[in-house]
Amino acid sequence: MAVDVASLPGRIRHRFPVFEKRVYINSCSQGALSDSVREAYDRYLADWDEYGAPWEYWVERLEAVRASIAGLINAEEDEVAVTTSVSAGVSALLSGLDFSNGRDTIVVSDFEFPTIGQISHAQERRGVRVVHVPSEGDGTIPLERFEDAVDERTALVAVTHVCFRNGGRLDVEGIAGIAHERGVPVLVDAYQTIGSLPIDVRALGCDFLAAGVLKYLLGSAGLGFLYCRRELVQGIEPTATGWFADRDIFEMDIHDYSPAPSARRFEAGTPPVPSTYAAIAGIELMQEIGVAETEAHVRELNGLLRDGLEELGATVVTPREPERSGALLCVRSTDVNALVAALEEEGIVTSCRDDNLRISAHCYNTADDVQAVLDALTANRQLLG
Ligand SMILES: Cc1ncc(COP(=O)(O)O)c(C=O)c1O
Repeated sequence: MAVDVASLPGRIRHRFPVFEKRVYINSCSQGALSDSVREAYDRYLADWDEYGAPWEYWVERLEAVRASIAGLINAEEDEVAVTTSVSAGVSALLSGLDFSNGRDTIVVSDFEFPTIGQISHAQERRGVRVVHVPSEGDGTIPLERFEDAVDERTALVAVTHVCFRNGGRLDVEGIAGIAHERGVPVLVDAYQTIGSLPIDVRALGCDFLAAGVLKYLLGSAGLGFLYCRRELVQGIEPTATGWFADRDIFEMDIHDYSPAPSARRFEAGTPPVPSTYAAIAGIELMQEIGVAETEAHVRELNGLLRDGLEELGATVVTPREPERSGALLCVRSTDVNALVAALEEEGIVTSCRDDNLRISAHCYNTADDVQAVLDALTANRQLLG
């Protein structure tokens, strides 16, 4: 899709006050605060003030988030658990998987976010084996590596969509094909892609998908979700649980465990009410802006960024192929903390992981932002690896 690089941010940038003071190009960490998310928080406080404890309405807000997320990822509402983080949803999921039937292994990619690796290894206490699928040096993991790793002992394959360390994007559809051939379900961590490109759980072919609203969905901390394909829900009984996961929350029965028949069984305690207001506002704004348009826009910006980085002689560790990368572009540095600090001095907000500077444009970023980053990197050329 051809998008004029200048037109998208021109429509919306004024709604993100951070740009009055900074070049914010760090949405892989956190989306910029919009006027509508700020208003949503104001509304939460006003409702609390005016009504005291409007729990009926607050539970409605939770259901509105569920509907909003279901719409965004092409799932049904009963396939979505609204959680407080990716970690909470994935912990609930893994706590409910049966590893005693000969399938005792979780296969994870080496691109995983810490929480996926750590929750998987926590299952070792239950006799689980964790197998890591190694990457190539070029920010990719070929499908053959998954062919080698997934076998009759595998209970789950857990893969990230885009790697938070190097921006490499995995072939989730291909991996799901390999896993399903061997009768193994697939969990996708889509936190680095949701909101930056269209996500369709049916098209991806995944069985579970976890993400949150903090980054490209323009929400804030405290709210994540777990999608579980409907056919699998009732066969999984989480032991990491709580009263909001119960079949009937208001029954308040302390004598048994009867999880909800829907994906709500992966929830836990009191929902993150303030974050539901923010999540609804953030997702609505992102849908109004257009996720597909944003993907095309950021692709153009990243093209400009790559051209400039190439001229500078910088090492871009994110693969170049469009299907092997997302919004996040990572650049090697000899002292990445010094580089992030030098950019901060110029009013440019980025972040880092390992030896990589992370530059992550979103709908609100402009070609001028990219040029500002390139100018600052030129001035700090000695810190590029
Ligand atoms: C790929 C990925 N997964 C998960 C998370 C965070 O998970 P949680 O919601 O558990 O903090 C992040 C970022 O913070 C991430 O980049």
